[in-house]
Amino acid sequence: MKTKPLTTLPAWKALTRHRQAIEKLHLREFFAQDKRRGERFTAEGAGLHLDYSKNRINAETLRLLRQLARETDLRGKIAAMFRGDKINSTENRAVLHTALRAPRNAVIRVDGKNVVPEVHAVLNQMADFANRVRTGKWRGHTGRRIRNVVNIGIGGSDLGPVMAYEALRHYSDRSRTFRFISNVDGGDFVEATRDLDPTETLFIISSKTFTTLETMTNAHSARTWLLRAFRGEAKAVARHFVAVSTNAEKVSEFGINRANTFGFWDWVGGRYSMNSAIGLSTMIAIGPQHFRALLAGAHAMDEHFRTAPFARNLPVLLGLLTVWNTNFLHAETVAVLPYENYLKRFPAYLQQLTMESNGKHVTRDGQAVNYATGPIFWGEPGTNGQHSFYQLIHQGTRLIPCDFIAFARPLTPLGRHHDLLLANVFAQAEALAFGKTAVEVKDEGAPAALVPHKVFSGNRPSNTILADKLTPAALGKLVALYEHSVFVQGVIWNIDSFDQWGVELGKILAQRIVPELESRTTPKLKHDSSTNHLIRRYRKMKGK
Ligand code: F6P
Repeated sequence: MKTKPLTTLPAWKALTRHRQAIEKLHLREFFAQDKRRGERFTAEGAGLHLDYSKNRINAETLRLLRQLARETDLRGKIAAMFRGDKINSTENRAVLHTALRAPRNAVIRVDGKNVVPEVHAVLNQMADFANRVRTGKWRGHTGRRIRNVVNIGIGGSDLGPVMAYEALRHYSDRSRTFRFISNVDGGDFVEATRDLDPTETLFIISSKTFTTLETMTNAHSARTWLLRAFRGEAKAVARHFVAVSTNAEKVSEFGINRANTFGFWDWVGGRYSMNSAIGLSTMIAIGPQHFRALLAGAHAMDEHFRTAPFARNLPVLLGLLTVWNTNFLHAETVAVLPYENYLKRFPAYLQQLTMESNGKHVTRDGQAVNYATGPIFWGEPGTNGQHSFYQLIHQGTRLIPCDFIAFARPLTPLGRHHDLLLANVFAQAEALAFGKTAVEVKDEGAPAALVPHKVFSGNRPSNTILADKLTPAALGKLVALYEHSVFVQGVIWNIDSFDQWGVELGKILAQRIVPELESRTTPKLKHDSSTNHLIRRYRKMKGK
């Protein structure tokens, strides 16, 4: 059945009209009109608190956004995802990262088969292996303990593990070194391994497909690096390499034992895979118990998303507000600003999750969209960003909605640091919303010429997500919150959030160019004049 174009839906049209009224109002007025706005425009879900009162919305905006959710059948689509329907239509796949954190007794069928027992079998296999590495039962080829764990992967096979490792470092086994190699740039490999002892190093080759150029290149370099230390003794590979993949055949071709292969399934998208065996490095770092807490946290958010009324549903609210800011207030980006240093890689992780998912230009049935889809996500931890790009957020000409993320309790209490940190996050959201008027600036005695420079227009939207403490469970909730917010946006925009055809062209062109760079004889180049020129120039610079 063909879906009605989004812009023809009654709720979309009503929102377009409604925007005109909202645009005339300042957040100062919204707050003045409703003294309890700061308490009312909040929601709790799975222990996370969302304050969305500093968005340019009123009760009518929320009502219309919920109507839009109904008109696009968000409820039905949520049910379809959780049920295991093949909602990734261009790849004909189910989308079941939620099954990765489902309890043992859940039943979720793909093609008639309950996948939950397999999920738990792999979790047990991971736990057994992680425990053996952590207790020193699993040893290297020469009998030495594994002190270094190196994850080789890229995209979803890297960003989730590295983000989770950094986020949960506080809970990690500090006697071990964890490194993450992703880039095909040799510098990444060389720097990550230069101080490691191969006899104490375990490589986890993480790749859903086990064909990705970067990962395979790094995996082969790792094998060469290792075998050099073992004078070419191929047997050593078995004690120093394990694999995480859906492609068991390719893994054994590489020479990794089936017993040391951790599987997952095509219904786990790369960028949704950190709760699968792709999280093996995380589990070795923090231990199986903490890893299960991470899953339990994500599951709690899944349940909240699946069951809570839209008016109190965190991922639904966050997703709908992103649609509002993107399509009606024409914001082009979202800044994600964690006031928690351990979350320093969270914005990078979110970039793949959000932009690979919703960077789409056609609807599910292949029609060009006539509205903006996925905004650009970016960010840095606070307070660092305040001394760099916040100037533009406060006084620039663009509207940049911000998601502030903060925790009530620090993992590493230190003097006054945490109150200072939290004072800053609250102050930034306040300054963005309310700004400072010319009258206020003049009253402070600013010279007339400086007044316009010191004015803050305010009226700049933000959300604040406040949680108790960055635990493994809290991280699971936060990740699931954004996963589902991305889903909500994709449903409204009627796009396939689970494919990623946009990465293919560059991969194919690179494969074509490789022999042109490597050939000893001058290649016949058939690219455009710019690409031809760059290739010739590069060859010349290399003395070819
Ligand atoms: O090229 C994009 C992509 O397919 C991502 O979606 C994925 O996370 C990444 O590459 C890595 O893929 P793989 O896990 O198959 O190596």
